[in-house]
Amino acid sequence: MSIANILQTPTIGNVITVKGWVRSFRSNRFIALNDGSSLANLQCVVDFEKEEETELKRITTGACISVTGELVESKGKGQSVEVIVSFFEVLGDAPVEEYPLQPKKHSLEFLREIAHLRPKTNTFGAVFRIRHALSFAIHNYFNKEGFFNWHSPIITGSDAEGAGEMFRVTALPQGSDKDSSDDFFGKETHLTVSGQLEGELGAMGLGKIYTFGPTFRAENSNTTRHLAEFWMIEPEMAFYDLEMNMDLAEKLLKYTIRHVLENCREDLEFLNKRFADEQKSKPQLERAEQGLIEKLEFVVNNNFIRLSYTEAINILRNSRPNKKKKFKYPINDWGADLQSEHERFLVEKHFKAPVVLFDYPANIKAFYMRLNEDGKTVRAMDILFPGIGEIVGGSQREERFDVLKARIAEVGIPEKELWWYLETRKFGTCVHSGFGLGFERLVLFATGMGNIRDVIPFPRAPKSAGF
Ligand code: 4AD
Ligand code: MG
Repeated sequence: MSIANILQTPTIGNVITVKGWVRSFRSNRFIALNDGSSLANLQCVVDFEKEEETELKRITTGACISVTGELVESKGKGQSVEVIVSFFEVLGDAPVEEYPLQPKKHSLEFLREIAHLRPKTNTFGAVFRIRHALSFAIHNYFNKEGFFNWHSPIITGSDAEGAGEMFRVTALPQGSDKDSSDDFFGKETHLTVSGQLEGELGAMGLGKIYTFGPTFRAENSNTTRHLAEFWMIEPEMAFYDLEMNMDLAEKLLKYTIRHVLENCREDLEFLNKRFADEQKSKPQLERAEQGLIEKLEFVVNNNFIRLSYTEAINILRNSRPNKKKKFKYPINDWGADLQSEHERFLVEKHFKAPVVLFDYPANIKAFYMRLNEDGKTVRAMDILFPGIGEIVGGSQREERFDVLKARIAEVGIPEKELWWYLETRKFGTCVHSGFGLGFERLVLFATGMGNIRDVIPFPRAPKSAGF
């Protein structure tokens, strides 16, 4: 039985066997045992007079043990039940001199260097249980809304975002002078940057699909918001216009966050406290105005603010930081790409709420977005979250064959690379839309962690692919 189960529905008086890892061993008597099923430890009480000294010495922080004993109501403070150990066995030792995770506070930077051991800590246990809950909620949401889970390929021959930030896939030996026609696939291939284009093909037959898979970007962004390998959720819907697309994204985000609020209370309260402590150590100006749980409840209970790129530019142009030249990238003209400092100003200072920006200039967005009547903006939308910046990017797709063909030529993509994509516009084309939700950015938001490398088990980033 898992410790989560035992603590949730304690069967007082039963003899139980529990396996887990020792968090601490106090007074040669009280073992705090954790098996990962929940944040809470199970207290196991050993009678040291009855046990062999050499075996007791093996009960050290990090050791894996099995205990058997009666579950009783606890007389001590801090727990409601405990196990009176009648038998224990050390399954795996953890030598004190070597085991790095002693019961004290470790920095996240240090824990990143021992990412193989960090799932054993309270913080990472909580983060990864919430990561699971979010993933589960996402599948649940789409399933109940009639979407089909669609698997876009990981290895592709096309660049979905047209940004050229791809990792090459090859089976040619190192140093080979053969070209890609002699390679495994007989052409140049890459790890996908997005499952969208293949997702659109699914939507054109199945109606509503979503992908949930790993995506890869070889962009040299060493930030707390970027990974080279991250997971993305990409729904794609026939007959949805941009308005419906925004509605769906807002509902999905609220549903998943509500799921965490309702189902991960213990982990969330732990992270809430962690977040509050972390804020205290920051300078006043950089502190978050809301606590973690407060922030999640705010998102669930309030409408996102929707405004066009043009409206956003006007706000930014007239903003205090712009006038006082506080932005690293000053906003002067319409057409400027928004940097994270601008997005954060809008979300955290101006609106103090999640913001959906739409109708961006065509030339700062991808080729597949639907051109507006004005001929210069596209039906794009980004959702910006407090403390995160962009969490969702999406659009209504260009469904008109001629317009898409012209756009592909304009951005310089060879038509033969996308003939199959273009054919969906030739055969039964229709209005359709979709978006991409960065899964780690969602986990980052829901857990209040500060660095995206701490919400994925084994982060990949420039010059970093350990484990
Ligand atoms: O805005 P992006 O690049 O959009 C697309 O890839 C579209 N094809 C999505 C679609 O319409 N189906 O990426 C979508 C989201 C971003 O909003 C962000 O949350 C996340 O993916 N993202 C990253 N997350 C972590 N590390 C990175 N390097 C990321 N790049 C994008
Ligand atoms: Mg984007």
